Amino acid sequence: MRHLQVEALTKTYGDMNAVDDVTLEIEAQEFLVLLGPSGCGKSTLLRCIAGLEEIDAGTIRIGGADVTDRKPKDRNISMVFQNYAVFPHLTVAKNIAFGLERQKKGRQEIAERVRSAAELLHIEDLLHRQPNSLSGGQRQRVAVARAIAYDADLLLMDEPLSNLDALLRLEMRAELKRLVSEIKATVIYVTHDQTEALSMGDRVAVMERGRIVQLGAPIEIYNDPASTFVAGFIGNPPMNLLPGRVLAEGTGVEVAGEGRIGAVPPASKPGDQVTAGIRAENIAVADTSGTWSIPGRVFVVEPLGSHNIITVDAGGELIRVSVGADHAAVVGGDVYLTVPPEKVRWLS
Ligand SMILES: Nc1ncnc2c1ncn2[C@@H]1O[C@H](COP(=O)(O)OP(=O)(O)O)[C@@H](O)[C@H]1O
Ligand SMILES: [Mg+2]
Repeated sequence: MRHLQVEALTKTYGDMNAVDDVTLEIEAQEFLVLLGPSGCGKSTLLRCIAGLEEIDAGTIRIGGADVTDRKPKDRNISMVFQNYAVFPHLTVAKNIAFGLERQKKGRQEIAERVRSAAELLHIEDLLHRQPNSLSGGQRQRVAVARAIAYDADLLLMDEPLSNLDALLRLEMRAELKRLVSEIKATVIYVTHDQTEALSMGDRVAVMERGRIVQLGAPIEIYNDPASTFVAGFIGNPPMNLLPGRVLAEGTGVEVAGEGRIGAVPPASKPGDQVTAGIRAENIAVADTSGTWSIPGRVFVVEPLGSHNIITVDAGGELIRVSVGADHAAVVGGDVYLTVPPEKVRWLS
């Protein structure tokens, strides 16, 4: 499998840039996740790479070769669509063989590839069935098997798990990740589910309104979101975003009513308006106040089994805090939140 280079790609519909000046490089055998809210341009970008949309500007190279003007069938790309189209009139085996037959591969090779793709996806017993006798999860496996049976330079997957129920999605997520590393595929995987993105991607590209606004390893995106948009999109719960003002002494920031955190953004001056981003798990709950603490009142307690999420009302800001499952917070009780200065992120 080869690597992909997308340069300054723009695709407009009317006067809207569905994909807006996107530049992206993917290493061979990398698993890149494209993450963003519905409508941000993920499918359009994928379809442009596959050659299914005519682009307005930019170049696309696969393995160094410029494929920008090539037809989809001449790009050697395999794609799984969100609504996992399988052909209802063809058996599972014929569905998986579809691309290979169009590639005019030999009978022997087709049979071999169909068998190994079916084995990888644990559908070898379904090869003679018709799609309408399969469950949604099984049909999805057929679509994925068809995509990987085809010996493509690049595997594009557009929200392939979004139509499955939660449990099956979790199972398929792990299986897909194992599968693509086994076949050493280069993958772009589209999702709007941040958990899926963080757990599957070697790197994650976050999209907002047609642009890639951050690209990095999952842990980088989680720990150091580039903007309030990314911070508010990644993590469950997402990062707390607290507007504040640098104190007159310049030693800390006033947030959430009477709250004070003992950190300031680099190169800030007293009185500056700033936004502090703080993850729920980086906040501690105390029952006495300190110099650097945020007083508040427990608003909601959500027990999640492995831990609890406490929502604290601090001067009208709702701050979410992750605590141990045995933490005894009482709704309406007074608490003081503290944050280690090095855990504060400054965002704009
Ligand atoms: N064929 C089309 N004609 C007009 N607008 C389109 C078309 N396809 C997508 N769009 C618009 O482009 C934007 C990006 O869409 P899409 O790539 O499908 O987003 P995503 O996959 O991230 O949900 C949306 O605003 C969508 O309405
Ligand atoms: Mg889409």
